[in-house]
Amino acid sequence: MITSHELRKKYLEFFKAKGHTIIPSASLIPENDPTVLFTTAGMHPLVPYLLGEPHPGGKRLADAQKSIRTTDIDEVGDNRHLTFFEMLGNWSLGDYFKKEAIAWSYEFLTDKKWLGIDPKKLAVTVFSGDANASRDEESADIWKSLGVPAHKIGYLPKKNNWWGPAGQTGPCGPDTEMFYWMGEGEFPSEASNPATDEDNWLEIWNDVFMQYNKQADGKFVPLTQKNVDTGMGLERTVAALNGSTDVFQIDTFQAIIAKIIELIFVQHSVLYKEFYQSNERAIRIIADHLRAATFIIGDPRGVVPSNVDQGYIVRRIIRRAVRYGKMIGIAKPFIVDVAETVIGQFGAAYPELLENKEKILNELQKEEEKFKRTLEKGLKEFEKMFSKQNAISGADAFLLYSTYGFPLELSQELAQEKGQKIDEEAFRAEFKKHQDLSRTGSEKKFHGGLADHSWEVVRQHTATHLVQQALRDVLGNHVYQKGSNITKERLRFDFIHPDKMTPEQIKETEDSVNEQVRLDLPVHFEMLTVEEAKARGAIGLFDDKYAQLGAKIKVYFMGGYSKEICGGPHVEHTAQVGKFKIVKEEAVSAGIRRIKATVE
Ligand code: ALA
Repeated sequence: MITSHELRKKYLEFFKAKGHTIIPSASLIPENDPTVLFTTAGMHPLVPYLLGEPHPGGKRLADAQKSIRTTDIDEVGDNRHLTFFEMLGNWSLGDYFKKEAIAWSYEFLTDKKWLGIDPKKLAVTVFSGDANASRDEESADIWKSLGVPAHKIGYLPKKNNWWGPAGQTGPCGPDTEMFYWMGEGEFPSEASNPATDEDNWLEIWNDVFMQYNKQADGKFVPLTQKNVDTGMGLERTVAALNGSTDVFQIDTFQAIIAKIIELIFVQHSVLYKEFYQSNERAIRIIADHLRAATFIIGDPRGVVPSNVDQGYIVRRIIRRAVRYGKMIGIAKPFIVDVAETVIGQFGAAYPELLENKEKILNELQKEEEKFKRTLEKGLKEFEKMFSKQNAISGADAFLLYSTYGFPLELSQELAQEKGQKIDEEAFRAEFKKHQDLSRTGSEKKFHGGLADHSWEVVRQHTATHLVQQALRDVLGNHVYQKGSNITKERLRFDFIHPDKMTPEQIKETEDSVNEQVRLDLPVHFEMLTVEEAKARGAIGLFDDKYAQLGAKIKVYFMGGYSKEICGGPHVEHTAQVGKFKIVKEEAVSAGIRRIKATVE
């Protein structure tokens, strides 16, 4: 048996011995990166250094990075999805490359002094090559030189063996992935490798060779500095080394799960195992969500439950955990107890949890109380609404949200349990209407020109931000908004530019907007001072006198693509904009052009 702490310790010790500086985990809340709500991988906080900025720790770094992937929230409950996870990683910032990276990965995995995995239980994949980058025979040859037989090396395309941050722009490149045998029998057959027999292999480590920078125009430009970025998912590797595909079987989760079950049964009750088995999904959700919430609140840049951005995610996962707790029969408040176990398990590796213990427990307790007060009333209301038309409308869901604090996802889950779906667009339309009423006058100053806050108008408003950035990319940075007017049917955007746009420029602009829609960038805002907004590269009117005096202004970020001062409202992620089309380009006056465009 290997524990989580042993694996973390061994990994860092190994890379220290190979000349790496061990750096502490960066914050879960990205400091200067509006493209994501949370840090999703170890490389994320290192992007500036991967692009060439010198790192104070030198050119070889290793760490255990706290990570959150919110796209997986709804998947949690099976044996492998997690919202929060730890990623072990080592980096070369323009120092060593494929040969050393692969040799060290192999040594750490197989050497008896380290993990001592039987090489017969390992297989790897490498990039099979395409128009942008060649087949990675170099990595395959290195594996072979270490003793990995050719039939244990699978070649896979970009979809599998290429890595870059969340489908966006930035450093990226081919990768080689390492897999552990999980099939029947002690060893795989000769014919089996992850390319031929995917289901029987579990990926445990990924070495990315970052040699390109993907630009917003989709081009791959070689980086001056060749880097290595590796990531080993700690939970799944510990599980695999202990012969299990179930991440919830690892030591730290078992402690959390034991705590949850003991809220109902005395320790070692004969019913313990049976209870776990019949409530497995709910218990896993509670364990995962409360672990994630503890880490988010306890982060040095921690956020507390609220209705926006990261705060909304914490609220959503806490409330989901509370609801599942109730479902499995936990009658009294319980999440503080579970969080104490989480802190007990992880405090030594992540001391911020100990430093912020009081805050974590306080916030959790407050949120649980708040939610409990409304949960029962809300559930009753839900049943009442549901029984009327055997469905829950978007407006009903909004009422549950605004009155009872039901996250949309909770109403959706409840409806789903009854075989129904909620109209999300109708919910969002209600949401915008409400936002409109509560919006302050000061925010209004920054943006006019919206006919109303209907879903159609909001989508086009987001498209307007995207098109301003696209025009700047295509025509140049002299492009600047002179006016904007949006109705349900179309958007109109006036901007500074001396010449009539060519059909090619129009097409390029359209394509660029549609590419951002396809990338489905997250949209969020932050309240910033004028200085901060400028430092972050935001565009827009900086001339408000209150803002100049230090008051905060609202800045909308669409991934890393567009940053603009604006009162909103906007969609939550760019896929919601739909297909963008420019229908007209014309002059308004000397030096000012106008486009009219639609979204589908
Ligand atoms: N950044 C790479 C990953 O997350 C190592 O898989």
